[in-house]
Order: sequence, then C-alpha cells, then structure tokens
Amino acid sequence: MARRALLSLLGIAVAVPAVALVVSRTAREELSSLTSCYRSYTDKRRIATTPTERFRGKVIPLTARCRGLPDSSVEGASPWVDWAGYWGTSDSASRSSFWFEPVERLSRNQRGIDGALIDLEYQRIELLKFNLFDNYTFPEYLSGRGSTPGRSLKEWPAMRLASDHPQYAEVGGDGEQLCTGDLIRHRTVTGICNDIRNPLMGSTNTLFARNVQFEETFPELGETELVRNRHGDRLGLLRPDPQVISRELFTRQQSDPARCNNGLGGATDPDCDYVKAPFFNVLAAIWIQFMTHDWFSHLDEGQNAAEMMEVGCATRRDAQGERALTPDEVTRVGCRPGDRVDRAIIAQADAPPQADGPNGTKQLGRARRTTRNTNTAWWDASQLYGYSARSLQRVKRDPADPAKLLMAPVAGGRSGEGERLGYLPLLTASDPIHPAWAGQEATAFPDNWNVGLSFYHNVFAREHNLIVDEFRRRQQATPDEDSGLRNPAAPDQMIRYKDVSAEEIFQVARLVVAAEIAKIHTIEWTTQLLYDEVLYLGMNANWHGLFRTDNRISRALEKLTLDVFGQSRDEADQTLWYSVAASGAGIFGLGSRRYAGELPYRSVKEGAQDIWSITNPDHVNGGVNHFGSPFNFPEEFVTVYRLHPLVPDILEFRDVADPNAIQRKIPTVSTFRAGATAAMREGGLADWALTMGRQRLGALTLQNHPMFLQNLPMPRLRSTTGKLDVPALDLIRDRERGVPRFNEFRRQYGLTSLRSFDDFIDKRLPADSPERARQESLVLKLREVYGQHVCDDSKQITAVQELNGRLITDCLGHPDGTLVDNVEDLDTVVGWLAEFRRPHGFAISETQFTVFILNASRRLFSDRFFTSSFRPEFYSHLGIDWGNSNGPTGKVMEGGLANDHQDEVSPFKRVLLRTTPELAEELKSVVNVFDPWARDRGTYYSLQWKPRPGAEADPAFRQ
Ligand code: HEM
Repeated sequence: MARRALLSLLGIAVAVPAVALVVSRTAREELSSLTSCYRSYTDKRRIATTPTERFRGKVIPLTARCRGLPDSSVEGASPWVDWAGYWGTSDSASRSSFWFEPVERLSRNQRGIDGALIDLEYQRIELLKFNLFDNYTFPEYLSGRGSTPGRSLKEWPAMRLASDHPQYAEVGGDGEQLCTGDLIRHRTVTGICNDIRNPLMGSTNTLFARNVQFEETFPELGETELVRNRHGDRLGLLRPDPQVISRELFTRQQSDPARCNNGLGGATDPDCDYVKAPFFNVLAAIWIQFMTHDWFSHLDEGQNAAEMMEVGCATRRDAQGERALTPDEVTRVGCRPGDRVDRAIIAQADAPPQADGPNGTKQLGRARRTTRNTNTAWWDASQLYGYSARSLQRVKRDPADPAKLLMAPVAGGRSGEGERLGYLPLLTASDPIHPAWAGQEATAFPDNWNVGLSFYHNVFAREHNLIVDEFRRRQQATPDEDSGLRNPAAPDQMIRYKDVSAEEIFQVARLVVAAEIAKIHTIEWTTQLLYDEVLYLGMNANWHGLFRTDNRISRALEKLTLDVFGQSRDEADQTLWYSVAASGAGIFGLGSRRYAGELPYRSVKEGAQDIWSITNPDHVNGGVNHFGSPFNFPEEFVTVYRLHPLVPDILEFRDVADPNAIQRKIPTVSTFRAGATAAMREGGLADWALTMGRQRLGALTLQNHPMFLQNLPMPRLRSTTGKLDVPALDLIRDRERGVPRFNEFRRQYGLTSLRSFDDFIDKRLPADSPERARQESLVLKLREVYGQHVCDDSKQITAVQELNGRLITDCLGHPDGTLVDNVEDLDTVVGWLAEFRRPHGFAISETQFTVFILNASRRLFSDRFFTSSFRPEFYSHLGIDWGNSNGPTGKVMEGGLANDHQDEVSPFKRVLLRTTPELAEELKSVVNVFDPWARDRGTYYSLQWKPRPGAEADPAFRQ
C-alpha cells in the first residue's frame, strides 16, 4: 500500500512538470502564432496594380503561421495555393484541438477558415480586375468613356439591339434603349432585356468573352514574339497529336478489357474499371452537363461548320522532335487515322481592331477569332424552356392547361406515386430537329442526350407542373388575394390570383425553376464538388449572405454595396469594395429591397419601409454589376467544363424495391440519344435516380476518360471509321478557339506556373504509396508525349509573371541550356487533369476552381432576376416563397447536424421528394443529393467510402 502511494507520488512528481512543460510550450507556440496574426494584419496585402504583382494564393510566413500552415510549406516551394493547408480547411485531422480558445473568432480553426476565405476574396477581386476581356467592348474598358473609367461603365452601345432586331422599336429604336412593359416581366426566349439598359447582353448568338489577354489567345498562330519564344514551332491544330494524347493520357486502364469492350458493351456481364471519387455521384456528373446546356453551346442545333477535317493519329514526338507514327505504333496506341470531324464554327476571323492601352501602348481590341454562344448565357433554364424560336417549338405545352408542360404517363405498369406526374412526350416528325435526335423526348436542348439528361429534364418538367398546380390551388382557394405580380404597364393595379393568365403562370414557373436550379447548383452541387468548410461557407454566403438572415447588418451591407459602392465613379469602389460588401450581403437578391435615407442609419432598422418600385428602372435593374464588361461566358470557362471523365462506362442499375442490389449493368453508350428515352421509359425516374444517386462518378484525373466516348459511334460524320474520339476532340476544339496552353492559362488567372512536369506530383504522399507511383508514371507519360527541349534563357515567354525577380524565360528558372520539359505546350485540359494535388474534397482542380471563382460569381452578379428583380412583382408571392423555402410548405430542417451545421433539407432533396416520392425511404439518410446515397458521411468532411447503416449489403462497398 505504502509502496503504491509512493509510486503514485513519484508519478505525480514526474507528470506535473512534464504537463506544465507541454502546456507552457503549447501556450508559447500559440502566443507566437497570435503575434504572427497581429503582425501579418498590420502588414496588409495591397491589391495588385499590375499582373506581375498578383496575389497567386501564396501568403507570407507570418500569415502562414497565424493560420496553421507549417513553415516548411511556405516560400513558394510549390506552385499550389496555400489556403488548403490552413487549420480546419480539410477533414477532422486538419482541425486543431487546442484547448484554450476564449475568443472563438480567434481560435485556430476559425483563423484557418477565415484566412482561406480572405485569400479567396483577394483572388476574386484581382480576377475581376485583371481577367475581363469582352470581344465587343474591350477598347472602352481600356480607355473609359469621358470621365468614366472603363471598369465603371454600365452601358455599352454594343449591347443595343440592332435595327433589324424584331424588338428594336420596342426598346427605343435609335434613341435611348430601355426595355419596358412585357419585355421586362419574364425571362425572354432569346435572353434579351435581362439587363434592361443593355438589351442584347447575354442573348442567344452573342460572342463568347475571354478571361485572358487577347494577345495570348491562339498560340498556334505564333503571332507574337512571346508566343514564339514560349512554344517554338511545336504547336499546331493537330500538334502534339490529339489522338495520341487521348490514347496515352486519357484512356482508362482495364483489368479485364474483354468485359469492357472499349466501353461499348456487348459482353454478357459488362464491366469497365474507372477511378472513382468517393464523395460525388453520377447524378452530379450529369447535373453539370445539364447546366452547361443551359449556359452555353458552340454548336448550332447540334451542327458545326460544314467543312470536315482530320483529327490526328498521325504523329508523335521523340528526342529528335516530331515524326510520323508507324503502322505498328498506330496499332499499339489504338488510335484511328480515318476519323474525321466537322470544323468549329468561327464568327470573326478578320484582323482585330487595335485599342489604346496605357502609356501610349496598343493592344488587340478583340481576340483574333471569335465564336458565338448559340444559347442564352443567362442561368434561365433555357435547356428546358428554349433559347430561340426554333428550340421553342420543341417545348410542348399541355393543351388542357397551357401553364403546364406536356407530360404523359408511359406504359410499363409502374405504380409509384410519382408516375402519375408523367414523362415528357417524344419529338415528332414535324418538330425542327437534327436527324440524330429522332426518338428522344421533346425538349429545347436535345444534343448529346443521355439517360441522366432525360432524368433531369423530366424531373424539372414535373417540378414546373407542381408549381402550376400550387398556383392553381391558390387561385381556387383565395381568388381575390394579391398574387404579388404586377404589370409594368399598369403598376398600381393589384393582380389577384384569379386574374393571372395561363401564360403568366407558365412564365412565373419558369422563373422559379431557374432560381431553384441556381440555388441547387450554388449551395448543394458546388458544396459537394468542393467538399470542405471553406467552400460551404463561401457558397452559402454568395447565396444567403454571411448572416443568413434579414437583419440590420445585412441590410446595411446591401445598402452600402448598392448606394455607396454601386453609385461611385471610383473604379475600386465599383469593383473591389462592391465585391467585398456583396460577400457580406449575399449576391442573390441584392437590390431586391430599397430603403430611403442614408447610412449609418435608421434607414435599415427593423421595420424600415422598403421603397422598391417596378416603375423605377434603377430599382428593377439596380442590383446588377458587370464590373465594366458585359456578361457572357469566356471560352476559357468552356475549357474547364470539359468534364467527360466524370461519366462511367457502365451504369449499375438498381430498383427502389431492393436498393442494396445491383440488378444489372448497363453500358452508358446504350443510353445515348434515343437509347436514353427507351431506358428511361423502361426503368422509370425513381429507379434511375437511385441508380445514379448511389454510384460514384469518375474522378477528374489522367487516364480516366470514358472509353465509350473515345469510340463514340457517329454515323452522321460519314467517316470511314464512323466513330469519334470525343476526348481528342476536346483538345482540338480548345485549339480551334485559341485557349492558351496550361502554364500561360494559369499565369493569366494569377496562378503560379509550373517549372516541370514533376511539379504535378503531390510530394506530401509517402514515397512508396501506390498513388505516388501512379502520379510518377503519369508524369513520365506527359514527358514522353509532350517532350523536352534545350532552353534559351534569353527568351522571355510571358509578360504577366516573374520568377526570381525576372519575367519568366524559356528556361523556367533552370540554368541556360538545360533540357526542360515542354510544360508550356501542355493543353489546358491535360494540365488540369494532371493536378493531382488539390485542396481537400475538391473534385475539380485549383486551376478550374479559379476560373469558377470569377464566372460563377458573375453569373449571379449580372442577372437581374437573381438580384434586384427577385421580387413578387415578377415571381409572385408564391414564387418568392418557393425559392426561399425550397417549396410551398415553408422551411423544413434536417433532423441532425451535418459537418457541425444545422441545415435546411436541401433544395434538390425537396424537389425529388415532390417529383419522385417513391424515393422517400432512400432519401431519409441523404443530406446532399450529390453525395453517394449509401455512403456514411462520417465526421467533419470525411471522404471515407463506408456504407451507412442499412447499406452494408450494397456490393459497391466491396469494390
Ligand atoms: C453521355 C455523356 C456525354 C456525351 C455523349 C457527350 C458528347 C459530347 C460531344 C460529342 C461533344 C463535342 C461537340 C463538338 O464540339 O462537336 C461534347 C462537348 C462538350 N461536352 Fe460532352 N458529352 C457527354 C457528357 C458531358 C458531361 C458530363 C459534361 C460535363 C460538363 C460535358 C461537357 C461538355 C462540354 C463543356 C463540351 C463543349 C461544348 C461546346 O463546345 O459548346 N459533356 N460532348
């Protein structure tokens, strides 16, 4: 007993000083970290004045220490951004469990997450400053107009309707053009009059914009000395050979090639291997294709230019340079010299005008070639509702209630509750279509139709009709009540529910569906695509504002954004400060409330009167900001949305009656075009939702493109092979449209360029890990395909980034005469697929994400219906409630916490519960519809692949 007491005393005697030592060391470390915070705060970073000074996502050591980034990671050793290493920005391992945190805002995890958000805001500000290049208006952006600086311009002559436009007279003809009356009530078919003072903006067939300096577009043409220094004579439309790149760097590796059969099916038990992302499902893959069909298209009714061209499988590089492929090599590589494809449609190819740059310099006034966006650029659900007179003819209304889309039951004997809501009808012989679309469901955008697109178009057509049903119900129940709608021609006249016409209800439902889609994309799809706390907060702030509620601070921030920064003539106010203040107020709904009086003020106190009026054009239009450059997507945006690796070759079909079992494996290619419609009708919406909801999508990495897309049957091309390598075509199209190659692309977006292919390898991985081995072998492949050259340090290759105090040269920081990788030649798609190192939970790469920071924000900032016109006068009271509460029955909360947040039931889950109620049981445990449905989400942003309780029998977890 005495001995035990003595031992205990001895233990205490040793333990207490040890604990004290640890505690005092930790406390000292924390003190030093907090001191770093203070010192880094006083050393505030300025917004760059020239591109060479841009932020690049790299922080000084003091800031790094404050936010938890180990010292060893600082000092620009890697080209990748720093915030991904801060406290709390990854899974639970990234969270500090430091015990003494009296002020939560100053806690380590909060410092890490806030720090990351600050870095992203800096990036957004500089992207808005340096990356807007509009093909119509760039000269004015450079020189301004009168005393107004270019970045403060809000109206442009080029955005007027031309005299041959059918609505020319209606908007004011050759006088001041201003959209009024019926043109401003709803989203128009061609997208005109979204901005009521710039009627043409974002409408069908306007030119794509650019995010990179025009001089840096079309490097294949070798027009400038910088471009020639950068690429020598190594580039061309088919150089390096796109099919060789596709076969060597994109092809999925198969353990049983016969079962996969190049992704084309035919085997009795088909199966194809692919690299899977554990936290994102096939529904998410097709969602983004569904979105791109809303935002942009280069093809006109599924058609490119008439002229045909070869698509490679002709050359390869070796130590001597480029040489022809031998027949044996063609066989070994597996490409097809006989493939042909139609050329891209080009809008302008004549010499661009010159514009006056700073200090007497001259710059290109537009890109050397331009192309048109044949869709509306607005997020207006045009893939469902139409974007031209021709596409509108494919949108079928229900003759029994023209407010509704035509939906009809299909044969198949399914008794599910959602079945009575029906399916889209088929295209008929009299519909205006490309012959390849015959046999598909009727909808505005029918190209590249597949069973996933069929799913989304049917779901949102059902949702449209449910909105109409609810409107009709209110018309019945409360016919004399104010619908909230107003006709700008008679603004003072209340429109009662019973006065609303079928056409008006149709257009209201379209507005609501478009807003609902934008909300799903912003706070549900994107937060799963970029699955970490930083992006969860950032995306929710874009939508709801930082405070999530309508309080005095958010109202003051809204007023500050619009009345102070929005009205200023100062460029920095209009752009930088506007963007910062809008992050607090939220972009969605910005300007949909107006308060008299000035800040700081009683004007925004509780109960302050909202004076927004439909008769005031500055209220209707006043929430938009185009940052000096009219809105359209840039070509570079299309590049980073070439997401074909997301698609699996084989779909694992399931039945809601037995969700844990895979009933059969269906080659995706068999669900292409008319095959999609047949598959949907046979399987039904609920089973297809379950199928795509449970299956993981393909990771965006090298050697992970669907094999069926490399061998896609394309009889319409009438080539000897009858097939097309779509991944190879992705590269060719980018070259036809002049997208800069990867390294200059990154520099243009303010990201650090790479010095060799080895920079792609994630050096944090253990040297003996299989993933490290995979990355190293792919880097060898990159070197083999793109080659190397002896560098010349006297040749400057860029004007926008320095290395070691000099503008970067051909030697990329290596000594003169070194054999360097042709990393400058890397096609941008290949480059972002090779970015193995990413922030936690990122399904896309850092480069793609940067393009997204700029354009996803602008898509909201520029759209009146998502900002100042998100009002009952346009949406009706029902529409506003539906958009804000994810449905007609008010807000519904999830039972538990997800990643420590108490969230509403997600908007897409609500849509599915309404349109496919057969899924109710399966969806009970689903928090985010784009996370594989049977996955156990574990703790804080875990990426584990484990079954949730009840799904243990699902064979997907044995793979
Ligand atoms: C069954 C699935 C799919 C098929 C059959 C398919 C097919 C194609 C084809 C044939 C093209 C080339 C058009 C041309 O330039 O001539 C294309 C372009 C494209 N695809 Fe896909 N695709 C599929 C899925 C996806 C997915 C999931 C995405 C994700 C966003 C996507 C994004 C794109 C983009 C951005 C383009 C360029 C469009 C443009 O130039 O305007 N595709 N696709």
